[in-house]
Amino acid sequence: MKFFLDTANIEEIRNAAEYGLIDGVTTNPSLVSKEKRPFKDVLLEIARIVDGPISAEVVSTDAAGIVREAYELAGLHNNIVIKIPMIKEGMKALKQLSADGIRTNVTLIFSCNQALIAAKLGATYISPFVGRFDDISEVGMDLVADIARIFSNYQFPTQILVASCRNPLHIREAALSGAHIATMPFTVLEQLLKHPLTDIGLARFLKDWEKVPKTV
Ligand code: G3P
Repeated sequence: MKFFLDTANIEEIRNAAEYGLIDGVTTNPSLVSKEKRPFKDVLLEIARIVDGPISAEVVSTDAAGIVREAYELAGLHNNIVIKIPMIKEGMKALKQLSADGIRTNVTLIFSCNQALIAAKLGATYISPFVGRFDDISEVGMDLVADIARIFSNYQFPTQILVASCRNPLHIREAALSGAHIATMPFTVLEQLLKHPLTDIGLARFLKDWEKVPKTV
């Protein structure tokens, strides 16, 4: 189970990298827009901190434009993975990029059939958005479990990258479903470590330790 950080914020990435838990980073245009910096500068800085896949999303919506952007972004660093929206033109571009050996992450996946199509066209990763599915009263994690079953039925090598994770339960459920990766905001990564009984237990141990006679 890999953990990716879902952010374009360098400080968060530096902090998370200190745990040694970060296997990669995912970005999207909304996350990048918060940083008020050129996209390529952000990507190159991330690549200096994290030695793992970094998803960079295209903003073209026609196949030729997507392929052009993909080559530009992939040329920046070996670890860049091209994030492509799940649209018809995106799938045309995906077929070509797969044939060219460019790694891809098909994003905005909300159905098993979308995941199946992306896998058939050779996507390296697919990103089902669980939080946004939950937002509309669908069970995001049911979708992940179904996709995991389909990929296992046909031994697709495409990896399931659970995205739009909003809380620790999403990470636990992603792991139970056998998803390869969960990408999460820094706040969720920090929440994963915490348990009130751990804090209470440690405080008690340290207090009791004060009663142990000290030798000279
Ligand atoms: O990984 C995709 C993610 O950035 C979307 O998250 O919370 O905007 O649905 P959210």
